Amino acid sequence: MKPDIATTLNRIRLRTPTILSAGILGISAATLRRAVDFGAGAVVTKSVGLKPRAGHPGPNIVEAPSGLLNAMGLPNPGIRQMSREIQRLADDKVTVIASVYGFSPRDYALVACEASSAGALAVELNISCPTVGKIGREIGQDVEMVAKTVRAVKAKVDRPVFVKLSPNVTDIVEIAEASARSGADGVTAINTVRGMAIDVETMMPVLGAKVGGLSGPAIKPIALRCVYELYKSLKIPIVGCGGIVSWKDAVEFLLAGATSVQIGTGVMHRGLTIFKEVNEGIASYMRNRRFQRLQQLVGLAHRR
Ligand code: DHB
Repeated sequence: MKPDIATTLNRIRLRTPTILSAGILGISAATLRRAVDFGAGAVVTKSVGLKPRAGHPGPNIVEAPSGLLNAMGLPNPGIRQMSREIQRLADDKVTVIASVYGFSPRDYALVACEASSAGALAVELNISCPTVGKIGREIGQDVEMVAKTVRAVKAKVDRPVFVKLSPNVTDIVEIAEASARSGADGVTAINTVRGMAIDVETMMPVLGAKVGGLSGPAIKPIALRCVYELYKSLKIPIVGCGGIVSWKDAVEFLLAGATSVQIGTGVMHRGLTIFKEVNEGIASYMRNRRFQRLQQLVGLAHRR
């Protein structure tokens, strides 16, 4: 029998367990929906805020060993324009998750509310942007602020709310537990790791914002460890994210406890066919080991 790789994101059924991560293909409906055409079970938009935002001065992206460093500064057209794109995706039956950010719990709630009214099936709270201090540091590293933010969003939105966790904290489990207690329906682990590059000719930081977020295979072991630790204490679903470029990476995250995985930098390096490759690889792994449902793999690395 053909193994079933369908999974769920809280109440949402996904045909496949691979999701396009935030910030990779921007905000246009036409571009985002291509990921689904190539096998993604859902897509996450670039993070959107209340008002349009220009972002940081360049350079915005630089290659790093086995990864990418980026400091975009959350450029986005604001929720009003974004809502039109979300609506288009929803009309096309694309499972769209809106990534939202704000400068206060109220901002997050307003943006999340508009995004879900426009048709986003879930929202992912970006409390972990490594390049905009107010968000990644003042909100995302403060347990009380995270709790307040989740509560504010949950009070306004009746769709599943996922919290995208930062690895740039002392204790990721503590932030996740506070999110769950405040009503979060799931977590995405992890956002990028703060890093930088210096140009030895100019003797200056390469990125316009100096510090950026490191993504790609370089951070996979960190992400996997976070998912493994989170699975031990959380009852809500975990979406694995960080350096997944092959079906084997994806299976590792499932075994660590994730019920689905996001792919971002992998799309930039390998193109959209990565979704089909990872989905097919997971299915043949399951077939070879006689697993029928994806859920049977989840958390298996924790057995004794
Ligand atoms: C940016 C936001 C992120 O969440 C991230 O991981 C990296 C960069 C940004 O827009 O600068």
